[in-house]
Amino acid sequence: MALNKLFFRKTIVAGTGLFLCIFLIVHLSANCILLLPEETARGLYNSYSTTLRENPLIKLVAYALYASILLHIIYALLITLRNRKAKPQKYIVNHANENSSWTSQNMGLIGTMILLFIVVHLANFWARIKLGMGDSVGLDVAGNVDVYEVTSNLFHNLYYVIFYTVLAIPLALHLYHGFKSAFKTLGFYHRRGLRIVAKTALIYAIIMGVGFGIIPFIVYFK
Ligand code: HEM
Repeated sequence: MALNKLFFRKTIVAGTGLFLCIFLIVHLSANCILLLPEETARGLYNSYSTTLRENPLIKLVAYALYASILLHIIYALLITLRNRKAKPQKYIVNHANENSSWTSQNMGLIGTMILLFIVVHLANFWARIKLGMGDSVGLDVAGNVDVYEVTSNLFHNLYYVIFYTVLAIPLALHLYHGFKSAFKTLGFYHRRGLRIVAKTALIYAIIMGVGFGIIPFIVYFK
């Protein structure tokens, strides 16, 4: 395949990936509201969620988010398939561990686990709240859709708590590797700069993994 085609695909994966990284910072910050006492959390969470759904500008950002998720998955798949085709035979002596990390060799597996998470997650919230699928969602005293109630009910089911918490691990691994790779793809080769990127990626991945992993547990015991 022409090199610039591969470069184009990698740039799409890197660009959409970094956009999704920003979304996750905003999403985790909003979900931290769930850690407040119920009287405060319910009103705040529901009015935040209503603002997101009703503001036309934020609606545009939401469409960019859906497009980014799709493009990220499609182009990552195309790159993986192309790499497989280019290297059909397994080498007898494969110093894989010396050449790359476990995470980078298993991006396909980790990506599939995150895809499973996103499908279940969107069915839990997005499909119910935005598309009105499944059990109907009530309103709170202010007349906002009671997204807090949906979240609280879900995280009082231990299976979902475990599912969300366990899948925060592949999420953190993917973010750590993906964050570093995105900067390299976008032409960031400075040695000292790359060390700073690697440290930032580690801190970012730990905050996201621990944050998204621990919230369901805290809500469960609230
Ligand atoms: C503690 C964990 C999480 C909670 C409590 C949570 C909660 C929610 C809620 C309530 C919504 C619906 C918002 C609305 O329409 O009002 C939502 C949407 C969404 N979540 Fe999460 N989320 C969590 C983790 C994640 C993670 C780890 C990801 C990505 C890997 C993610 C990706 C999304 C996406 C893409 C949407 C759709 C956004 C939109 O249409 O506005 N969430 N989440």
